[in-house]
Amino acid sequence: MAKNILVTGGSGYIGSHTVLQLLNGGYSAVVVDNLDNSSAVSLERVKKLAGQNGDRLSFHQVDLRDRPALEKIFSETKFDAVIHFAGLKAVGESVEKPLLYYNNNIAGTITLLEVMSQNGCKNLVFSSSATVYGWPKEVPCTEESPISATNPYGRTKLFIEEICRDVHRSDPEWKIILLRYFNPVGAHPSGYIGEDPLGVPNNLMPYIQQVAVGRRPHLTVFGTDYKTKDGTGVRDYIHVTDLADGHIAALRKLDDLKINCEVYNLGTGNGTSVLEMVAAFEKVSGKKIPLVMAGRRPGDAEIVYASTEKAERELNWKAKHGIEDMCRDLWNWASNNPYGYDSSKGSS
Ligand code: NAD
Ligand code: UFG
Repeated sequence: MAKNILVTGGSGYIGSHTVLQLLNGGYSAVVVDNLDNSSAVSLERVKKLAGQNGDRLSFHQVDLRDRPALEKIFSETKFDAVIHFAGLKAVGESVEKPLLYYNNNIAGTITLLEVMSQNGCKNLVFSSSATVYGWPKEVPCTEESPISATNPYGRTKLFIEEICRDVHRSDPEWKIILLRYFNPVGAHPSGYIGEDPLGVPNNLMPYIQQVAVGRRPHLTVFGTDYKTKDGTGVRDYIHVTDLADGHIAALRKLDDLKINCEVYNLGTGNGTSVLEMVAAFEKVSGKKIPLVMAGRRPGDAEIVYASTEKAERELNWKAKHGIEDMCRDLWNWASNNPYGYDSSKGSS
C-alpha cells in the first residue's frame, strides 16, 4: 500500500514540486492549503504531469488553524507522515504585520502538531530556512552554526524549530526532520509548474523572471559594496526539484529507528553572486536584464551558503543541478507562463 503523506501548503511553490515527486515516488498525497498565496491550478497541473500517479492526490482547501476541518481530514485518512510547508514567507510583510505571521505560522503549526499527536501521527518534516543563520560569522553554514533571527518571519522559523525540539523531548515517539532550505529557484523542467508570486516579487529570481517577460523595466541590485567577488550579495541557489527530492530523502530517513529531532541543510554548497545569477539567466534566455545599481537592502547578509555534508552523509541526498539548469528551467516556465497560473492577468 502507498504511504499516505499529508502535505500542508502543498499547492505553493516548493509544495507543488514536492507533491509531484511524491506521487511519482509511489506515495499518496493529501494536500491542505488555504490558497492564501497559491492557486489551485498548480495542483491540477501536478495531477496532469503525474499521469496515472495523479490518482493518488487529493486536495482540501482548509486553513491549518481550522482545527475541526483538520481533525476531519485526520479522521478520514491514517497518515504515515506530514510534510509541513504551510506558512507566510514575506520578510517585509512580517515586519509590518508580526501578529499575522505569529498567528498563521506558529498557531497553525501548534494546531497541526496537536491534531497529529491526537491521531498518533508523530512523523514530521518541517520547512525551516537558512534565514536562521542570520549574517553568518563563518561560511559554509553548518547545522551547528549559531542561529538567530532579525525579523518576525525568521523568528517564526526559529520558534517552530524550538517547539519541535520541545515536543520531541516531551515524547520521544516523535520523529522530526527540520530542513533548512537555502535559496530555492527554478521550476519543473516541463515548464508546466513553477513559482508564481502574488504582487511585486521580493526575491531575486522571480524578479528577474518578470523583467525578462516585460512585466518590470529593470532589476534593482541591492548592494554593490559587499566584500564579495563583484561586490554583490552571495547566496546558495538550489534547484526546486533537487529541494523536492530532499523531502523524499527526509521521508525515507523517518523510517530510521534512531531518528529524533534532526536538522539538515538543503543547499548546494556553492555561493553565487547576484551578478553571476543575472549573467547565467541572460546566457540561457538570450534576454538582456537591465540593471539599476542601488544601496544594500536592510537586513541582507553578505555571503550565505550551506555545508551539505550532513545531508549527503545521513540523508544520502545531494543537489544535482547547477545555476544554468536553474535559469534554463525558470525561463522555460516564465516564457510559457508569463503571468503564472493566471493566464487572464494582463498586468500586475
Ligand atoms: P508558498 O507561499 O508558495 O507556499 C506556502 C503555501 O502555504 C501557500 O500555498 C499558502 O497558500 C499556504 N498557507 C499559508 N498559510 C496557510 C495556512 N494557515 N493554512 C493553510 N495553508 C497555508 O511558499 P514556498 O516558497 O513554497 O515555501 C514553502 C515553505 O518553505 C514555507 O514555510 C517557507 O517559509 C519555507 N521556505 C521558503 C523559502 C523560499 O525562498 N521559497 C526559503 C526557505 C524556507
Ligand atoms: N536581490 C537584489 N534585487 C532584488 C532581490 C534580491 O539584488 O530585487 C539580492 C539580495 O540583495 C540578495 C540576493 O539577491 O543579495 C538574494 O535575495 P533573495 O531575496 O532572493 O533571497 P534572500 O537570501 O535574501 O532570502 C530568501 C528568502 C528568505 C529565506 C532565504 C534563505 O526571502 O526568507 O532566502 O532561504 F530565508
